[in-house]
Amino acid sequence: MKTNQINMTVTNTKTKPSNGQPYRRLWGRAKGKPLSPYQSGLVDTKLAEVSIDTESPLAGLESFDNIRMEIGFGGAEHLLYRATENPNTAFIGVEPFLNGIAKALAGMDRREIKNIRLHHGDVWQFLENLPDNSLSHIDILYPDPWPKARHYKRRLIQEDLISEFHRILKPGKTLHFASDIPSYVDWALLRICRHGGFQWHAQTCADWQTPYPDWPGTRYEAKAHREGRTPHYFRFVRACD
Ligand SMILES: C[S@@+](CC[C@H](N)C(=O)[O-])C[C@H]1O[C@@H](n2cnc3c(N)ncnc32)[C@H](O)[C@@H]1O
Repeated sequence: MKTNQINMTVTNTKTKPSNGQPYRRLWGRAKGKPLSPYQSGLVDTKLAEVSIDTESPLAGLESFDNIRMEIGFGGAEHLLYRATENPNTAFIGVEPFLNGIAKALAGMDRREIKNIRLHHGDVWQFLENLPDNSLSHIDILYPDPWPKARHYKRRLIQEDLISEFHRILKPGKTLHFASDIPSYVDWALLRICRHGGFQWHAQTCADWQTPYPDWPGTRYEAKAHREGRTPHYFRFVRACD
């Protein structure tokens, strides 16, 4: 099967979680085509200003009503759209791919968006410093599929990440996971449902076939459509204890 992961230059970076757990491997592209001078300038001058403090990821966000996180925002289309739509919500965007970070910075600059904070790197570098019950929403939209069985361990969604989502999401709040890869859909559904701390309210196929409300789409979703793959949209609610 042709997927957006094939033909990718794969780098294998070790990242250190914040709580002294063993190093994790970060699989995927760290950098693509050269940045424009405008993008490079933003990375040099603005990235530090809007980067989260990995030791204290919510520092400076106290005045916002809610805090959401998007992991692997790619070209930042969805992140920028949601942040514009919800100015009283703070958005933490996580992306190890420098070109994606540069696109987010350019969008924030051009649209004067003030409610996005970024982390250039792996989500595990700060996840464990997020307090319990602190987020109102998490998005994982079209994570790298790693379709070969021997690469499944590289997938972002794993049991320990699901447990962390359960810890940091407020009860009653939502986790959105979208994918166009059937084996990843099965993989994620099995693990999230098996965790036991999330409710999946789907009654019919229409639930997972219907995009999220006011959905702007993403770049990878457009590619999936072009290549004949079907998007699946899952909504999980963090159960009350
Ligand atoms: C297939 S792309 C999807 C991008 C975007 N969500 C979209 O739908 O257009 C997956 C993204 O996840 C990012 N990614 C991979 N591993 C990650 C990790 N450990 N933490 C955060 N993002 C990650 C990749 O760099 C890539 O941008």
